[in-house]
Amino acid sequence: MHCTINGNRTEMVIDPRTSLLDFLRDHLGLTGTKKGCNQGACGACTVLVDGERINACLAFAVQYQGRSITTVEGLSRGGALHPLQQAFIKHDGFQCGYCTPGQLCSAIAMANEIERGIPSFVTKNLSTETALLDHDELRERMSGNLCRCGAYNGIVEAISETFAKEPA
Ligand code: FES
Ligand code: FES
Repeated sequence: MHCTINGNRTEMVIDPRTSLLDFLRDHLGLTGTKKGCNQGACGACTVLVDGERINACLAFAVQYQGRSITTVEGLSRGGALHPLQQAFIKHDGFQCGYCTPGQLCSAIAMANEIERGIPSFVTKNLSTETALLDHDELRERMSGNLCRCGAYNGIVEAISETFAKEPA
């Protein structure tokens, strides 16, 4: 079995009960993806699978045969940080940094969901094909990523500056 991780074809020779999170961290040494609750409640383990965000602690690695997975280690391009990573630094969007990889991956996928017009629980107008990343939308759509340090103001400012058409 194989998958692609951060652009590299990767063989999966593992116990089929191995979570995607443990495969990334313990088998591949990609420790940027964090283990917080290990039960789907905190978002620290968020990674991208073909551009969609998932909680890696709730997924078996073998489910992702042939899929393309991106972790925080794969967000930079040519040695340059992703614009959202730069914005997190600019706006102090972290303290301990433990939730940050998940926040980054989640926000990148969330912005893509907005672009595609996918509604959230708080989207008021379901008849439009585009959603606006306003104050309520941003908080609702990022509510699955907890920050125990309470760095939410900086996180919101960084995501808003990078992806919102208007300040959120
Ligand atoms: S470690 Fe996966 S959601 Fe908390
Ligand atoms: S920066 Fe510490 S948990 Fe978010």
